[in-house]
Amino acid sequence: MTKLAANASAGSEGRSAADCVVVVGTQWGDEGKGKVVDLLAAHFAWIARYQGGHNAGHTVVVDGKRFILQLVPSGILRPHCKAVIGNGVVVDPQALVEEIAALEQAGVSVDGKLFLSQRAHVILPYHRMIELAAESAPGRVKIGTTSRGIGPTYEDKMGRRGLRVIDLYDTELLRAHVANAVAEKNAVAGALYGAKPLDAGRMFEDYRELSERIRPLVRDTAQLLNQAAAEGESILLEGAQGTLLDIDHGSYPFVTSSSTTAGGACIGTGLAPTRIRGAIGVSKAYATRVGGGPFPTEEQDGRGAALREVGREFGSVTGRPRRVGWLDVPLLRYAVTLNAIESLVVTKLDVLDRFDEIPVCVGYRREGRPVDEIPATVAELERLEPVYESLPGWRQSTAGVTALAALPARARHYLDFIAERAGAEVGMISTGPERHQTIVVPGSRLERLLPARLAALSR
Ligand code: IMP
Repeated sequence: MTKLAANASAGSEGRSAADCVVVVGTQWGDEGKGKVVDLLAAHFAWIARYQGGHNAGHTVVVDGKRFILQLVPSGILRPHCKAVIGNGVVVDPQALVEEIAALEQAGVSVDGKLFLSQRAHVILPYHRMIELAAESAPGRVKIGTTSRGIGPTYEDKMGRRGLRVIDLYDTELLRAHVANAVAEKNAVAGALYGAKPLDAGRMFEDYRELSERIRPLVRDTAQLLNQAAAEGESILLEGAQGTLLDIDHGSYPFVTSSSTTAGGACIGTGLAPTRIRGAIGVSKAYATRVGGGPFPTEEQDGRGAALREVGREFGSVTGRPRRVGWLDVPLLRYAVTLNAIESLVVTKLDVLDRFDEIPVCVGYRREGRPVDEIPATVAELERLEPVYESLPGWRQSTAGVTALAALPARARHYLDFIAERAGAEVGMISTGPERHQTIVVPGSRLERLLPARLAALSR
């Protein structure tokens, strides 16, 4: 080997795929990733969020205690885990401070366990002002956002006029940034939407104070994670929202403003693609969507109401009733492809317990002709006619079941059908909100993707 080659190979040591696994939602968010990440976190040293902000709402139930996490990765509930809010996340410091306070009140300390990227962009009150005003402006497409200022913050980031966490600690920069941005946003929001102006001086003071409260968390998290990976430590990358809300691959413009798919995990943390060993996709046993946009399998009759009621399908962030419908296999296949999902986690199986028949969308037609691709426009997505296959219901409780063999044969058939049609195994099934209400499929790829302790959870 030449000296150059020897140096190069020495330099690349530890840079192969590490124990980094991504968990993504395969639908429009709310698939139950919070519980799944909390569960898988038992096997990882680090958990990192890579996109989104406090538009996300991950509900985790531990010993009857319900936690709603919005910014803080669900792994924080595991004493051994270190949690990272990556550079790809947009952070409302007020929301972060409140979430940490709620965690500490519930006995979960974040000291020395939670780290925030210095490169993450900051949500300021004018982002919310602009979003609220724009969403209700006549003639604008109503996305039905969570009104957290997420989109306008990403706009400023990409427009190279954003404020990053690190900038909060340069007092003069902060003062000037807030003064200039408030003047500009007040002018725009006032002229276009008649919004009430915001006070720059007060905002500067508020953010200076908030910045001190989050200062102990701020780090170069890309460096932290890369060092951890190089030392062989495992990292779980936690996606928020879902594949179909991805800014590029989702049902644009009815999407969120970040890359929710597995590729976003690299950009949003600073870990390279070669570090990632695989992706796990989370799907509900049926489908839900909050906000506007196409939803080919939406069910608006009484069965839809039953799904919503039994599945308690109300947004954990906004409380809005979720739109509900049947599992859409072509969209699931799309998510499997985009994320190279090796294993699926199917959640809320028990919500289907009461149905005699369960429709599953297995394809689409348009004007009678089969459609093979997922259309790129909303107009075409809305013209799709789903083709359903009806699977027999099991009419038996699966709530809390912890072993595959204990599931009714028809429920197992339903899961086999999903796996076969989606092109990815079902490696885990969630049968209730608690950690133990879970089935890990013995011998699954999911088991192999993770350290051995997981198998013990299902027994
Ligand atoms: P935004 O992310 O607030 O800009 O909202 C854009 C779209 O994404 C809206 O349809 C929201 O309802 C949806 N959305 C954002 N976050 C979540 C989530 O965590 N779960 C489900 N839908 C979400």
